[in-house]
Amino acid sequence: MTYVGIGVIGAGLFGRKHIEIMKRESACRLVAIADPTPEAEIFAQELGVPCFKDYEEMLDRAKPRAAIIATPNVLHASAGIACAERGIHMLVEKPIADTVESARQLIEAAERARVALLVGHHRRYNPIIAKAREAVREGLLGRITAVSAQWMLLKAEDYFIPAHRRQPGAGPILTNAVHDIDDLRFICGDIVSVQAMSSNAVRRYPVEDTTVVNFRFSCGALGALTVSDTAVAPWSWELTSGENPFYPRNDENCYLISGTEGALSVPRLELWRYREGTEKGWNKPLLRELLSVETVDPLARQIRHFCAVVRGEAEPVITGRDAVRTLQVVQAVLEAARTGNTCELDAE
Ligand SMILES: NC(=O)c1ccc[n+]([C@@H]2O[C@H](COP(=O)([O-])OP(=O)(O)OC[C@H]3O[C@@H](n4cnc5c(N)ncnc54)[C@H](O)[C@@H]3O)[C@@H](O)[C@H]2O)c1
Repeated sequence: MTYVGIGVIGAGLFGRKHIEIMKRESACRLVAIADPTPEAEIFAQELGVPCFKDYEEMLDRAKPRAAIIATPNVLHASAGIACAERGIHMLVEKPIADTVESARQLIEAAERARVALLVGHHRRYNPIIAKAREAVREGLLGRITAVSAQWMLLKAEDYFIPAHRRQPGAGPILTNAVHDIDDLRFICGDIVSVQAMSSNAVRRYPVEDTTVVNFRFSCGALGALTVSDTAVAPWSWELTSGENPFYPRNDENCYLISGTEGALSVPRLELWRYREGTEKGWNKPLLRELLSVETVDPLARQIRHFCAVVRGEAEPVITGRDAVRTLQVVQAVLEAARTGNTCELDAE
């Protein structure tokens, strides 16, 4: 198998994470880095690849077949359009862009150039999330009625040292709950209506520390998501899934999905149903089965999938059009929290 040569644009925290993973994958090879900082230059020297301050120069001179874009969000669209104009496939970190408008420009550029545009909602590659989606799609829960999702944990005080993390444009909705919203869309289907209420009562920063959100899904189900980065609590994907060794794992759940035939917890994947052929009702015993999945690093799986898409061997698990919908829901949450209005999103 020939490898896919990849240029990484933005070698900060997450760009470096991608590079670490690429080192272990035979499907791809890092060919160059674009990042204006001296630290990136040193990092590239250590890796033995060229480093460019300007990403257009990197694309023109190193000529990678594909690029990973891990810059700050405001640069995703312009860097992605530069890739598209040169026929270079791309994996853009989440969120696809900082605004829906710039995301659409990026999508159009990629479609015009017929290059792949994947977005780094990497949890979709986690077998736990994939299994939950499969269970819903196969009808194991019947018709979905209600979803309860939690993202409650305590961010360390030093997380807030960089001033931008205390300002609108950061915050747990845009930074963290964007993943949960994408998970819920991936598992339960699209979200068509949003209500929300936000508070900064504990940290007193301009950005929210706590938000509660109500959703209506296109299938008719209702959902509620509770978000707080100032809570001493274990109920978040990070603190329950074991996906990232940085976070201790707690044997708890972060999503509870209920339907007319059963219910499913995530990430523990407990499937609750009545025994087949027995009478149903609130005073009848429920059976608990555990759905099993293999343990896989979703970031590694994402890179392998990206390379397969570049080689024309797979269809994207997530497209730009799908990812922009997640961004639209996130923006609707912020808007609903700001105005107190219910925000309706057009059905797809
Ligand atoms: N999928 C995930 O779970 C996940 C986790 C963290 C971050 N992210 C995403 O990754 C992206 C980067 O986040 P981060 O935490 O690594 O940020 P970061 O600030 O650590 O890194 C950003 C890098 O981009 C570089 N950069 C700035 N301007 C540039 C330019 N013009 N050309 C090339 N490089 C430039 C910076 O020098 C920096 O090294 C964001 O979009 C973020 O949302 C995703």
